[in-house]
Amino acid sequence: MQPGPVSADAAARATALREQLHRHAHLYYVLDAPEVPDAEYDRLFRELQALEEAHPALRTPDSPTQRVLGRVLDGLAAVRHAVPMLSIQTETDTTAAGAQAFDARVRRELELGDDAPPVEYSAELKFDGLAINLRYEHGVLVQAATRGDGETGEDVTQNIRTIGQVPLKLLGSTAAMPEVLEVRGEIYMRRDDFERLNERQREKGEKTYINPRNTAAGAVRQLDPATTASRPLSFFAYGLGEVRGWAFVDEDAPTHFALLDALAAFGLPVSSERRVCAGAAGLAVFHRDVQARRDALPFDIDGVVYKVNSLALQQRLGFKTREPRWAVAHKYPAQEQVTRLAGIDVQVGRTGKITPVARLAPVFVGGTTVTNATLHNLFELRRKGVRVGDEVIVRRAGDVIPEIAGRIAAGPGPRRPYVPNFRMPLACPVCGSAVRREKGGIDHRCTGGLFCAAQRKQALLHFAGRRAMDIEGLGDKLVDQLVDGGLIRTLPELYKLDAARLAALDRMAEKSAANLVAALESGKHTTLARFVYALGIRHVGEATAKDLARHFGAMARLMDATVEQLLEVNDVGPVVAQSIHTFFAQPHNREVVEQLRAAGLTWGEHEGSAAATPASLPLAGKTLVLTGTLPSLSRDEAKELIEAAGGKVAGSVSKKTHYVVAGAEAGSKLDKARELGVAVLDEGQLRALLAGHGDAG
Ligand code: IVH
Repeated sequence: MQPGPVSADAAARATALREQLHRHAHLYYVLDAPEVPDAEYDRLFRELQALEEAHPALRTPDSPTQRVLGRVLDGLAAVRHAVPMLSIQTETDTTAAGAQAFDARVRRELELGDDAPPVEYSAELKFDGLAINLRYEHGVLVQAATRGDGETGEDVTQNIRTIGQVPLKLLGSTAAMPEVLEVRGEIYMRRDDFERLNERQREKGEKTYINPRNTAAGAVRQLDPATTASRPLSFFAYGLGEVRGWAFVDEDAPTHFALLDALAAFGLPVSSERRVCAGAAGLAVFHRDVQARRDALPFDIDGVVYKVNSLALQQRLGFKTREPRWAVAHKYPAQEQVTRLAGIDVQVGRTGKITPVARLAPVFVGGTTVTNATLHNLFELRRKGVRVGDEVIVRRAGDVIPEIAGRIAAGPGPRRPYVPNFRMPLACPVCGSAVRREKGGIDHRCTGGLFCAAQRKQALLHFAGRRAMDIEGLGDKLVDQLVDGGLIRTLPELYKLDAARLAALDRMAEKSAANLVAALESGKHTTLARFVYALGIRHVGEATAKDLARHFGAMARLMDATVEQLLEVNDVGPVVAQSIHTFFAQPHNREVVEQLRAAGLTWGEHEGSAAATPASLPLAGKTLVLTGTLPSLSRDEAKELIEAAGGKVAGSVSKKTHYVVAGAEAGSKLDKARELGVAVLDEGQLRALLAGHGDAG
């Protein structure tokens, strides 16, 4: 088709489509609160694509259609940074003393006497990824460059365009757009995205990636943008490069914290894990609080960063050769360490999977001493080429079990290629049943099923886990005693534990089992998602369990679902659908559910139609934002309760937010809520809403 003349109508339509798509992309990627289903977004996207196809003159560089490019770059071009990308001084003392040392330096440089008030800091996370400079001219992304040596980086514009979280165009009116705004931040990969990527690599029998940071950095520096697009990357903004014509920096008393708010208002992702702190004491509290929650964050951090909050004071402090005097990185214990592989054992898991486990010379990593790490399966072990005696890299981040990320040096002795000094056992080390590997599969499994004590124990531990039924006190030791002593063979038998049975245990175990009985009693009510997850169905992780609960709404519907119906669920593919179907096709599994119900377990069910949120739920259709620390609920718990009540939890406050739930030390979100006139609730009011007691706002 010959491109025809561009009509005013077509041009106006293209502009309107671009605006809508930008807005939806921001809602989807940054605020995590989409307003339209994916299919609608796709429809608008395709309409714009068709218009541009017919009238190439309508294709603008900031068009959402330009995110994914098939074009292969010849090599990464050099980019000279308008303002050098500096490094940051690192405080390696991981105790509170690190914060004191920095604050003392700042006070000395500013010539503040002992009686001068504390210096105000902006404290934030130190993201573990790749630094990037995004150059926006009149609000449009024109260039993205890596840090390189700080003076000159590489042009990765085409690659960065494929990252959904990076706005191609800033939000706001064109008139208010700075002539030049260089935004600096970190490209990173979330841990769950990294685990999924490695899981896929493992399934394909391909090499796994070492850690999210290297994977993100490698993905950004690809020559082919399509490769970047296939890796799930995320972005956080944390600072500025060159700026021309932006009113913000000329306002009186601008602060770094307000600068981050201003960047968020442009539609850039800014982490909400940040706080204004007063003096060394405030910094130490932030350092400690973040450390306590480090494992629960969805991405790796290697420390926190403190910045003098006042931009005027920053200017006064200036730079020392290549580092600003107004900022410091305060580290946490590393999440990767090198140690010696002392041996390889095998473990039998909940589903009978036999996993080779590395026995390690004890090493302090990610905040704990690690002596074991998973090697996943025989094939991965071979691919990694690790042998007993080697120096290996151990990684422990978040809730993920420690793993061997790679090998750095061979141990002594001859090395014969392809013949590792380890063999998979032919019989289960726990029950002696045959070990089998499915044809073409990668996992070895014990065929003993619940006859195998290891599988029984793992099933119990999983059921009791923090993210499942959350039964306090049902740990390794007690499970060993309950199973080895023959007191418990199936999950429902847990709830039949009584004094008579407990008498069979030794004194200590008897006492902890009595506590357990109380915990079991008080923990009988849970959510459908947790219950489904607790059953330990193969391939059904927490996220899938949530999707299933949301989709089916009631246990009976899930149990009777056909494979086709299961395939309709978000993110459920053929393998998962089959696994769920097979699980509930087994009479003894259905019996387990019935017996648990008979034992008094209840889980929130709703009878609404599948996939839709039933309008009868107290928070149906409502979007809430959480900020600050609530007196008794953790963020995860609050989120779970809200979702169970049909509500949605978003990451930032907008006009679409119905309620902001604010706890102690609530930050900018609370200010934003007040500014927009959004109703603010405390925990008590939230609980009233959850219980369906009217409108708290
Ligand atoms: S500010 C002039 N803030 O840490 C100060 N850096 O050398 C420039 N990083 O690789 C850095 N999180 O990419 C700053 N919240 C944060 C950061 C951060 C991670 C990285 C940065 C660079 C290194 C600093």
